[in-house]
Amino acid sequence: MTDTQDYHGKLVTIERFILDQQQAHPEATGTLTNILYDMALAAKIITSKTTRAGLAEILGSAGEENVQGEEVQKLDVFAQRTIFRLNDHTGRLAAMASEEEEAIIPIPSRFPVGPYVLVFDPLDGSSNIDMNVSIGTIFGIYRRTTASGPGTLADVLQPARNLVAAGYILYGASTMMVYSTGNGVHGFTLDPAIGEFLLSHPNIKLPAKPKYYSVNQGYQPFWTAGVQAYTEWLQRDTPEKKGLSLRYIGSLVADFHRNLLSGGVFYYPADSKDLKKPGGKLRLVYEAGPLSFLIEQAGGYASDGAQAILDIVPAQLHQRVPMFIGNRTLVEQAEALIRRHDGAATPA
Ligand code: AHG
Ligand code: MN
Ligand code: MN
Repeated sequence: MTDTQDYHGKLVTIERFILDQQQAHPEATGTLTNILYDMALAAKIITSKTTRAGLAEILGSAGEENVQGEEVQKLDVFAQRTIFRLNDHTGRLAAMASEEEEAIIPIPSRFPVGPYVLVFDPLDGSSNIDMNVSIGTIFGIYRRTTASGPGTLADVLQPARNLVAAGYILYGASTMMVYSTGNGVHGFTLDPAIGEFLLSHPNIKLPAKPKYYSVNQGYQPFWTAGVQAYTEWLQRDTPEKKGLSLRYIGSLVADFHRNLLSGGVFYYPADSKDLKKPGGKLRLVYEAGPLSFLIEQAGGYASDGAQAILDIVPAQLHQRVPMFIGNRTLVEQAEALIRRHDGAATPA
C-alpha cells in the first residue's frame, strides 16, 4: 500500500488513490477498482438530489412500502435506481442485493456477468430526509462463490469477513465517501466546486479514548438486563474510562461516522418492543456486515452481543442482527455483561 505520508499537501482524488492502492495488488485486474469508481459516481449523482431534497419533487414518500414494511421515500427509490443502473451493464457483477428489493437483483440477461457481487443499503436513515438530517449509503463487495452463470443467493449470503471491500457515503454538511479494501480505512470529501472526491482522512483509526455512546434510549424499558447494565456502565466513570456522553442521530451512517472519528460505541440491541423484530432492527447483509468490516480495519470490533458480526453466516437476505460496534474494549464489555446477566445465548 502506498504510504499515505506520500500524499501530504497534494490534491489526491479518489480515483488516483484507488489506482495507487491497486498497484499494491499485481494480480488485480482493475475490476474492483472500477466498482469503487462507480460507487463514487453514484455518490455524486445522489448528492445532487440530497442537497435539493427540500426544494425539488424529490421530497417525501414514494407512496409505497418496501420489503421491510417501511414507507419508501422517493430518495430511496432514486438512490436504488442510480446504483443499479451504474452497475447493471458493466460485466463486473454477477448479482446485486439491496435493502429495497425482496430478492437478489440479477444482472439483465443482455449484459455479461462478472466476478463480484454488490450488497447495499441505497439510502440509510431515510426517515430523516424531510428533516434535513444527514443520511447515507452503505455498500459491500464480495467475490462470487459460484463458478459461473447468473449470481445466486449463495453468492450474497457470505460472512462479512469475506468482504473484499466495504464503504459508506455520508450526505451531510459535506458529502464523504469512506471505504476499505482491507488496507485500512480512507475518507474522501466531495469538493462540489470541481466535482471530485479528495483524500481528506487517510488511514482512519479509532481513537483509543472513546467519547460517545450512541443508542436509542427510548427503547430502554424493552432491553434485556444485560443491555440495561451495559448502558449504566457506559455512563459511569470506571477504571477503564470516563463516563461517556450520549449522541444519537438516528441515521446509522452518521452515528457510525461520528464514533469512528471520535471513538465510542454504537449499539442497536435486540429489544422486546416489536416481537416481529426479535433480532433488533439493523440488517446483517447490507448494514451491519460492511460497517463491521470497516470498524475492524480501523482497529475496533463489532458483535451481536455474543460473537463477532464478521463471522455470522447470513441465513436470509434481510436478516436482522443486534449490533454493538466501536472501540473493542467497549464492545467486549457489552458481551461480558450480556453473558453475565442474560446467559450465554445471543440476546436475539
Ligand atoms: P433505513 O433508513 O435504511 O431503514 O435505516 C434506518 C436505521 C438506521 O439508519 C438507524 O440507526 C435506525 O434506523 C434508527 O432506528 P430507530 O429510529 O428505531 O432508533
Ligand atoms: Mn439502513
Ligand atoms: Mn435504507
